[in-house]
Amino acid sequence: MKYLRWDETLFKDESVFDPDYLPDALLHRERQLTALAANLRPALRNSTPIHTLLFGPPATGKTSVMRTILNEVSDYAYTAYIRCPLARSAYKVMARIFERVCKHQPPQTGISITRLYDSICQKLADDRKALIVALDDFNFLDDDAANDILYTLLKAHEEYAVKIGIVTATTERVMLDMKTGAIFHPDEIYFPLYDEEEIRSILRQRVKLGFYEGAMTDEAFDRIVELTAKACDLRFGMYLLRMAGIEAERRASRKVEIGDVERVYEGGAKVFLAKSISALNSDERETLKIIYSIKGDVSSGDVYKILKAEVNMSYTRFYEIINKLERLRLIDVAMGRKGKGRTRYIIKKYDADVVMAALEL
Ligand SMILES: Nc1ncnc2c1ncn2[C@@H]1O[C@H](COP(=O)(O)OP(=O)(O)OP(=O)(O)O)[C@@H](O)[C@H]1O
Ligand SMILES: [Mg+2]
Repeated sequence: MKYLRWDETLFKDESVFDPDYLPDALLHRERQLTALAANLRPALRNSTPIHTLLFGPPATGKTSVMRTILNEVSDYAYTAYIRCPLARSAYKVMARIFERVCKHQPPQTGISITRLYDSICQKLADDRKALIVALDDFNFLDDDAANDILYTLLKAHEEYAVKIGIVTATTERVMLDMKTGAIFHPDEIYFPLYDEEEIRSILRQRVKLGFYEGAMTDEAFDRIVELTAKACDLRFGMYLLRMAGIEAERRASRKVEIGDVERVYEGGAKVFLAKSISALNSDERETLKIIYSIKGDVSSGDVYKILKAEVNMSYTRFYEIINKLERLRLIDVAMGRKGKGRTRYIIKKYDADVVMAALEL
């Protein structure tokens, strides 16, 4: 083998940098783990679990906490973990639950959602087991699907003596209609952003698991922590760790140096923004594009003026969009003085060409 030499690697276990890798220990999330465990504990004795909403910005550990607790519960109750971006209709969600509970695929031809649901409830009743439905990235369901699935699942106990608990994870509030809102009152567990020291310890833990001792220089590691903290995105940190390792191997170095980090950062940040950007609709993308096409910091009033010339949008809607872009950490908003009054300034968090490239992906 000329190009792929397996004996010279810096990685002890590269899979720890995979997006769906679940570490044994989740640092700084004790409160959230304990709270979710307490809410789902009733499932262990076939009582109804407490519905729970995991809420917080991207990459704050919602999926990791959800999967950790589901793994524990799955010895005692049925669990269905569903990534909503991959199952966008109520029918698809129900079909996934059916697969988990009935242990086979639903028949292909024209079986209604109600029949799928009847079979699921029958099985739960026969087995005297509770079911936890975990809807990850819940904001990716369209409104009708979100309402339909919750309503159908929550009505279960009226018809059948079954115990179903729902856990949703989302970065965005999902507005439910009155009918569903009246019966779904989840307990909310909040996931705050990690601060720089927390980021440092989590990345340090991953370096220990993933790299051979001494393979990561302090300078490279410090730079990764700094870039991750600036982007407020732990997932970006995981990406930088792995890619800097690959970059160092590519130049046949025995250590990851700061230059490896810089090269990866320049090339890769855009891939990274793609996830946040995929959650934006066309008005929100347009707003982001305008913000990043203006040089320097800009007041929100100026952005609104430019935007209004292109799309018809109320100021209230614009205000909501700015808040959303801030929540997704694509921008920062700071108050400042302009003339006599105070105004909101928009601060860019990434290089403009990186964001523009990500918008094109
Ligand atoms: N407390 C933690 N300890 C160790 N690793 C963590 C922790 N929190 C998050 N991670 C890691 O950070 C990455 C993002 O975490 P996770 O997917 O759980 O976030 P999330 O809140 O579900 O994000 P999103 O809203 O984008 O779905 C994953 O690689 C995960 O392993
Ligand atoms: Mg997630």
